[in-house]
This record gives sequence, structure tokens and C-alpha cells, in this order.
Amino acid sequence: MKIPCSLFTCFSAGSLKQESKHVEEGGSGEESRFRVFSHSELKSATRGFNSSEKVGEGGFGIVYKGRLRDGNIVAVKVLSIELESMRGEREFVAELATLSQINHQNLVPLRGCCVEAAHRYLVYDYMQNNNLHHTFLGGEERRMRFRWELRRDISIGVARGLAYLHDQLNPHIVHRDIKPSNILLDQNFTPKLSDFGFAKLLRDEKSYVSTKVAGTLGYLAPEYATSGQLTRKSDVYSFGVLLLEIVSGQVVVDAYEDTDRFLVEKVWAAYRSENLIRMVDPVLKTAFEEEEAIRFLRVGLLCVQETARLRPRMTEAVEMLSNKIEMGGIEISKPGFVADLRNVKMRHQLPIIHESTSSSSGAHYGNSFWSSANLGR
Ligand SMILES: Nc1ncnc2c1ncn2[C@@H]1O[C@H](COP(=O)(O)OP(=O)(O)OP(=O)(O)O)[C@@H](O)[C@H]1O
Ligand SMILES: [Mg+2]
Repeated sequence: MKIPCSLFTCFSAGSLKQESKHVEEGGSGEESRFRVFSHSELKSATRGFNSSEKVGEGGFGIVYKGRLRDGNIVAVKVLSIELESMRGEREFVAELATLSQINHQNLVPLRGCCVEAAHRYLVYDYMQNNNLHHTFLGGEERRMRFRWELRRDISIGVARGLAYLHDQLNPHIVHRDIKPSNILLDQNFTPKLSDFGFAKLLRDEKSYVSTKVAGTLGYLAPEYATSGQLTRKSDVYSFGVLLLEIVSGQVVVDAYEDTDRFLVEKVWAAYRSENLIRMVDPVLKTAFEEEEAIRFLRVGLLCVQETARLRPRMTEAVEMLSNKIEMGGIEISKPGFVADLRNVKMRHQLPIIHESTSSSSGAHYGNSFWSSANLGR
């Protein structure tokens, strides 16, 4: 799919604060669901941004549940990013309208936005089963709801969503922030990636950073964390960590353990001792397919290899998980990981690294990523 660039030319020179304005999809004749909402509509949908409607809070703002006049349930993200860092009104809406054209069953649909004075809001379809971090990780009881078949479907779904962003879009999109809280689950537990393309809303894409980044360093590819190289293979690394978590039921870094804290290391040790099966989540007891679970762990290890070019592309990962590629002869080399936050130092003006295939989004990082404030969190 090609992402249309001139999609937003249908907005007139006047104010963007138009009630329920629809944006036509460029050239296809289909009508997009994307709308520019009025502030009053979002206010009444969320009962005045009532704290009882708050579903969570991330590094970029608070998310509320809302009911639109037509009865549809949405999630409204109130951005708390400094205005100067964000694109101007028109560009901001245009970027979102473009992003809303990206449709895939494993991506959270973007319904629209609202620009009201200094405030910006994003409106998404509401995902009933929250996110993987909340619903899956954090306790045996939660994990028991995720039988093996569901874990398999979620893993393959996430891989497909990423493969779509990486290999079907032109220019491709590097997600940059694959982690359990960005994998939302709909009413059928179908996984949907959220927050993709977020960096495009900022004036300087390179300054994209989740302020919670230090808490999620375990998902960052080591080359990205330590020298700022961001490519599709950085997402592959993060996906690998996520996959190991889904199969093992263990978190990426276990803060309560003195030794054996890092999941990636534990799975690597099990692989070296030819006993990968011991890493499968014990709450599954024997209710899983052994050959498949081991294959998933091997794919996870392939994705987290230290050398980025040895990691598979996401499209290949989908094939491996679906058992369409023979994995028998594939060598796995040692994993990389960011073992110590102190290794991540404040850097200034490191060169921008491009992938061999050009991309508007296959880039970089900004100084804010390295700020001591972020690392302190
Ligand atoms: N479309 C949605 N439907 C239902 N819940 C959502 C939706 N979008 C976000 N949420 C919930 O809102 C909360 C905050 O999400 P947000 O993306 O702002 O932050 P995060 O991903 O938790 O953290 P970070 O800022 O570090 O990425 C999460 O718990 C998420 O599950
Ligand atoms: Mg998020």
C-alpha cells in the first residue's frame, strides 16, 4: 500500500474546528472514517473528561473512554506534549488523516482527532480488553486466561501487524515502541498495535520518545539504546522480547531477582543447554504443543540476536511462526540486551543512521531520549 501524501488538501483554509468533518480518501472513492471532532463532542463523550472514564495514562497523556453521539465507544488520548514540539494544526491533522488510512486487522483504527487552542486529542476505536501488559503480565491468574492457542494467535497477530508496517507500506513505518502496553486487545482478544506513526506528529521526528522509556529499556534493541541506530530490525528485537514473554509468562526484567533477572539471558541459557522447554509458562501445565512452543522460543531468540542483520525480517518471522519455513538448519547467535541503564549515556548529535532502503521514518533518536530526566524514571 502506498500512503497518500496529499490526502489533506480537502481541508479549507478556515478553522479546523469543524463539527464531525469527514475526510475523503484520496482517489479511491471510498469514504474514510477519519473525522475532526469538536472539543464539545469529545467533552460530552467522556462526561467532561471525568476521572471515572480514565482508562490509563502514558508518557504522552491521559486516555479516556468515551461514547460518541452515534453510540460508538472510543478511546480519547489527551496529548500532554508541549505545543512547540508538535506539528502545526494543519500538518498535524494531515499526518493523522494519512495514518488513519493504514488499515490492518492487527492495528488499532484511528477515528480522528481534535485540535482546540493549545490542546490536541486523538480518537481511536476502544479496545475492550486493555493491553497485554495489564491483561496478561502480572500474576498467574491473569496468565491462566491465556491458553496456548490464544498466545499463538496473539503472537502471530502482532507479527503480522508489524510485518504490514515494515513490508507493505511505502514508505515503511518503524513502530519504535513495541512493548506489551502498546499491544491492545479487542473484545475477541485480537491483538492490535497502538501508537504506530506517533513520531510523525512531532515537528522533529527524531525527538520522539516515550517518557517512560527508561522503564521499558528491556524492549529496546541494544544498538538503538546505546548508539541510536533505529531500523526495522530494532522493532524485530522488541518483538522477539515480547514473544519470549508471551511463551514464558515472564517479564523482560525481573526486578525482584538478584541473579537471573533478564528473560533474554534465561532463554538463551536454556537454549544452550538444549532445554528450551523449561522456559514455557508453567501455568500452561501440559496444555500446549511442545514442538510449536519450542519453535516460538527459537523465533524469539532469532529476533533478539545481538547482530541486527542476522535478525529475520518480520515477514519471515510470520512465516516461521506459522511453520511455513523450515527452521531446522537456522543457527542462532547470542542475544543482545541492555543489561545496565548506566551504560546508556547522554549523547549529543550522533549521526543519523539510515537503513539501506530509504524511509521517512526509518530513523534515529533525539537528544531528549538520552536526557537524565528520562533515565531517572
Ligand atoms: N484504543 C484504546 N482502547 C482502550 N484502551 C486504550 C486505547 N489506547 C490506549 N489505551 C489504554 O490507555 C493506557 C495509556 O496508553 P498510552 O498509549 O497513552 O500509554 P502506554 O502505552 O501505557 O505508555 P507509554 O506512554 O510509555 O507508551 C494504556 O493502559 C492503554 O491500554
Ligand atoms: Mg501506548
